[in-house]
Amino acid sequence: METMTTATKTGSRLSSPLANVSSHSPLMIVGGGVIGLSIAFECAKRGIKVTVVEKGICGGQATGAAAGMLAPYSEIGEDPDDFFTLCQQSLKLYPDWQQEVRTVSGQDFEYSESGSLHLAFHEADELALESRLEWQKDWHVQAEIVRGEALFRLEPHLTKAAVAAVYYPDEHHLYAPDYVKALQTACQKLGVNLVQEAGEVRFKAIEQDGVLLVTEQKGMFSTDQCVLSSGAWTSFFEGDVHVRLPVVPIRGQICAYQQGQEKIKHIIFSSQGYVLAKGNGTIVCGASEDIAGFDTSTTEKGIDRLVKWSRHLFPFLKEKDPFHRWAGLRPATQDGYPLLGRLRHMPSVIVASGHYRNGILLSPVTAKVIADVVEGRQPNVKIDMFDPHRFQ
Ligand code: FAD
Ligand code: GLY
Repeated sequence: METMTTATKTGSRLSSPLANVSSHSPLMIVGGGVIGLSIAFECAKRGIKVTVVEKGICGGQATGAAAGMLAPYSEIGEDPDDFFTLCQQSLKLYPDWQQEVRTVSGQDFEYSESGSLHLAFHEADELALESRLEWQKDWHVQAEIVRGEALFRLEPHLTKAAVAAVYYPDEHHLYAPDYVKALQTACQKLGVNLVQEAGEVRFKAIEQDGVLLVTEQKGMFSTDQCVLSSGAWTSFFEGDVHVRLPVVPIRGQICAYQQGQEKIKHIIFSSQGYVLAKGNGTIVCGASEDIAGFDTSTTEKGIDRLVKWSRHLFPFLKEKDPFHRWAGLRPATQDGYPLLGRLRHMPSVIVASGHYRNGILLSPVTAKVIADVVEGRQPNVKIDMFDPHRFQ
């Protein structure tokens, strides 16, 4: 088990000059996306004084762009590993977690227990679905294959080209922009100091028992422990922490139609993308995976592909055009797994980044794991595979 200073100290022991320090916080979190805010919420519930510093607006990057699916069984098709377990654990935490966020914040957000359908269009695809179901049964995943009439009873407007689907009743979705607003309010109600529009935050000094941070707009901060949850921008800290943190932005372009008479009842997954209906009367269709640096614009090519595919899945969409298109930057590591844990050579720094396609799903489990690391406890899920030193 990692040992380290706890987050209960009241004053910094940093030897660096502190003349310009705006404030001291036992725990500082860099990045106010879903990961940073979830960690802040969990740590504040445990009685830790937390400050979150965000370059722009909380939830303004990948988090606000997300489709909000909680769908590990559809997203992870290969044999299970500790990442699958982490995702499944998080899905199981969600019902209580989202209720807590709702209660503490006093804010509502859509949490739809829709279930999902993972489609097959050919017999050969059906075999792949059957083998997926086979290993998922050992993990007690609720799933069944539905074919023909049974499939169209579940999803009446689906293309008749679909021959079968795996039905996952436990895969749900939420409305990410409202969820992150509620998380933000819940944090504030628990006394978390949220510093937004701080501009770039950088390390000025890192010592064994503390960190000095400098921001472009909001002065300097000192802290005993600092969590890096800066999403797709995490590699910018590599030089400061002397460890490779190879997180790259993978752009996801996504679009939405206005819903009409025809209703879509489940999350619909296919090899080419997904479609789901939101409670606000929109049909969301995502998403591309492209490399465009830190550019969050959409392209004709990217959106056209989504439009073609969504019309193939739901022919009634041929009558419509998307009214809204946007993009976000998924934080992706080289092996696709997140970076979770304390830096052994700089124990005042903890990394929580690289959640790639599943950051919304992984919000509760990441919060609990990182809060345990902050407190010097052993998390009750295995995180060795997510060691932030593994690319060294
Ligand atoms: P972000 O939300 O990007 O937050 C990082 C924050 O750090 C940003 O606000 C940024 O401004 C701040 N920051 C960066 N550098 C600094 C700095 N130097 N100083 C201060 N602040 C800094 N996941 C799911 O689970 N389900 C889905 O259905 C889903 N759909 C998606 C669809 C799309 C189109 C996209 C793009 C992503 C989707 N994801 C989904 C993935 C999910 O959005 C991400 O995994 C998740 O939002 C990552 O959260 P984060 O907090 O790490 O990153
Ligand atoms: N998890 C869906 C996406 O990243 O597009």
